[in-house]
Amino acid sequence: MASTPDRHDLYEACTQTPERDVAFLRAIHGGAPRRLGEDFAGGAALSRAWVRRVRGGSAIATDHDPEPLARARGIARLACRVADVRSAAGRCDVIAACNFSVCELHERAQLLAYLRRARARLTRGGIFVADLYGGAAAWRTGTLRERRRLPDGSRVEHAWEQRAADLLSGRVENALHFTVTPPRARPRRLRDAFRYDWRLWSPPELQEALREAGFTATETWSRFEHALDMRGRVLPLRHRRGSELADEWCLFLVGRR
Ligand SMILES: C[S@@+](CC[C@H](N)C(=O)[O-])C[C@H]1O[C@@H](n2cnc3c(N)ncnc32)[C@H](O)[C@@H]1O
Repeated sequence: MASTPDRHDLYEACTQTPERDVAFLRAIHGGAPRRLGEDFAGGAALSRAWVRRVRGGSAIATDHDPEPLARARGIARLACRVADVRSAAGRCDVIAACNFSVCELHERAQLLAYLRRARARLTRGGIFVADLYGGAAAWRTGTLRERRRLPDGSRVEHAWEQRAADLLSGRVENALHFTVTPPRARPRRLRDAFRYDWRLWSPPELQEALREAGFTATETWSRFEHALDMRGRVLPLRHRRGSELADEWCLFLVGRR
């Protein structure tokens, strides 16, 4: 992280858990996946963690915005591609679209075109993974605040604002704001550091689209809950049909090739 954290540093510190996600993705795959495709990659934090953590692993990070992707350039075994995800390339064992990124695609035809492309890139036994959130809380406007400390001692407040939500169209508008207070300095505010215009796909909508795109099996897993085995390995939890979901839920939807 630079001496003055920029909006991408703050995003990564406040909203991402790439090391844990690498362990989740490998456990959900169930074999020994080596090649990751991180679609809608932003700053490619997941790909950077993948090449650090997976022995012999490689990653392809794809985003249509070159600005965040620039922070992942020049890293061994990590290829950065500026492209629309619907024309992403490169064979992978796992393709991940994290932080609700499939919601960037608003029309079903766009979603299907993307999922078909993703499936075509997967090796035998490969998985596509996307997270979704929902529940009654997803349709309420308002702001959630969280505070944390950065390694340099700065205090950061990150505010997640649900600015607009329309259940009938499935569209939401969200924004992330940061306030950073370095030690012995005045607070710096980054309002609207990131803004999102999303279509909140529901689990059955995404599962149907996965099957239509040719995935043979679909699964749902908890996005955050997990157990640890005797050796400290992450065991993600399956979310089975019929089990209850909270007012605010977050799931990984998985398609197997
Ligand atoms: C919500 S951010 C997710 C960033 C990162 N994956 C994460 O886990 O935090 C969505 C990213 O998708 C990118 N994006 C949106 N639509 C895209 C498209 N059609 N093709 C490629 N990238 C796209 C945006 O530039 C943005 O970086």
